[in-house]
Order: sequence, then structure tokens, then C-alpha cells
Amino acid sequence: MKDPKKGYDRWAKLYNKIEENMPMGKFKKEAIDLAEGKILEVGIGSGANLKYYKNNLDIIGIDFSKEMLNLANKKITDLHLTNIKLKEMNIEEMNFLDNTFDTVVSTCVFCTVPNPKKGLKEIFRVLKPGGKAIFLEHMKSRYLIINIFLWILNQITTRVIGTSLLRDTENNIKEVGFSKVTSKNLMMKDVLKLIVAEK
Ligand SMILES: C[S@@+](CC[C@H](N)C(=O)[O-])C[C@H]1O[C@@H](n2cnc3c(N)ncnc32)[C@H](O)[C@@H]1O
Repeated sequence: MKDPKKGYDRWAKLYNKIEENMPMGKFKKEAIDLAEGKILEVGIGSGANLKYYKNNLDIIGIDFSKEMLNLANKKITDLHLTNIKLKEMNIEEMNFLDNTFDTVVSTCVFCTVPNPKKGLKEIFRVLKPGGKAIFLEHMKSRYLIINIFLWILNQITTRVIGTSLLRDTENNIKEVGFSKVTSKNLMMKDVLKLIVAEK
């Protein structure tokens, strides 16, 4: 599989252009509306969600792609946002103390994190007890026919950018120890989901 950090550095500008027209885009506001308190957005990318945050919230966004962060920084300047800080950081090894955040947000990220369970364990660690993680993620389906279609597309996405369409993200979230996990199917039956997981 291609290294996704290099993949996103290489394709950052193109991703930023097409992101707004991606079908899952319309659900991002719904996910961000659930965020409260001290917020960490992991895999913030080119800053697709920045326009949805209320400006009284305290937000840190991290990503391991410098090029994606540069684009997010430009949006912060253009939108005159003063409540958001960006850091170059790997989700799998975060530089935050345990129990730091009220909310962790992740939109379309766990298709790409190289070791997803390691990243999810880190999210669990940095959340305060009772804090929630909000995931808008696409993943493999329960339906064979959909998975065959995803498998074909996956041959391209893994090679070009390092993104997998066949991750078992909802189960992975449950397995790292979240106490309450609720999930809503949004698109392509059960492929795109909004998942809220409480620590
Ligand atoms: C598909 S983009 C999504 C960006 C943004 N969340 C959005 O909704 O448009 C995935 C992002 O996750 C980042 N990413 C993937 N794995 C990561 C990791 N282990 N640590 C930090 N960032 C990661 C990539 O660099 C990329 O910017």
C-alpha cells in the first residue's frame, strides 16, 4: 500500500478542490454540530470542517500531511478564525496528555490511518472520561455485492493515495474500549456512517 502521508502531500490540492463536491460532504455539518467543549479534530486535512465550528469553541486540529495542513491554515486565515490551532502530528502517537479533550472529531480519516486500532486507542486515551468521539467514516459493508464493488475501487485508492475502502471501522471503535457506541447509516446502505462513541 502507498504511504498515505506521502499520498496526501502529493494530492492535497486536488483533494481540496474535489472535497466540497464529494457525496459525504453534506453530512459533515451534522457531525460537527455534535462537538462541544475542548475539541480535537484528527486528520483535519485541508480544513473541510472549519466553517462549521461555532466560534466560541476551543479547537486543535492535527494531521500528518504538511501540504494538507498548509491548505487548512489558508482557510483559517481566510475565515479569520482565532479559536483553532493546527499541529503536525500522527494520530497513532499523539503528543497530548491523557483525558484532555471533551470531543474528538474524525471525518473520513480511518480509511487512511495506517494502523487504525492504534489511532483509535490514542483517541480513547486523550478523551476525558464521559467525553465523546464523533466519527463520520466510510467502511466495508455487510452486503457482499457492495463489498465486491468497494474491493474493485480499493485496488485504485490504496495504490494512488493509501486509502482503504474495506476497513471495519465500527467494530474497531467498539474493540478499543468505548463504553457506548451509537451508529447511524447515512449512505450506500451501511457504508457511510455517523458514529458517536463515549469514553
Ligand atoms: C480523506 S482526508 C480527510 C480530511 C478531512 N477530515 C475531511 O473530512 O476532508 C484524510 C486525512 O487524514 C490524514 N491522516 C491519515 N492518517 C493519519 C495519521 N495517522 N495521522 C495524522 N493524520 C492522518 C491524512 O493526511 C488526510 O489529511
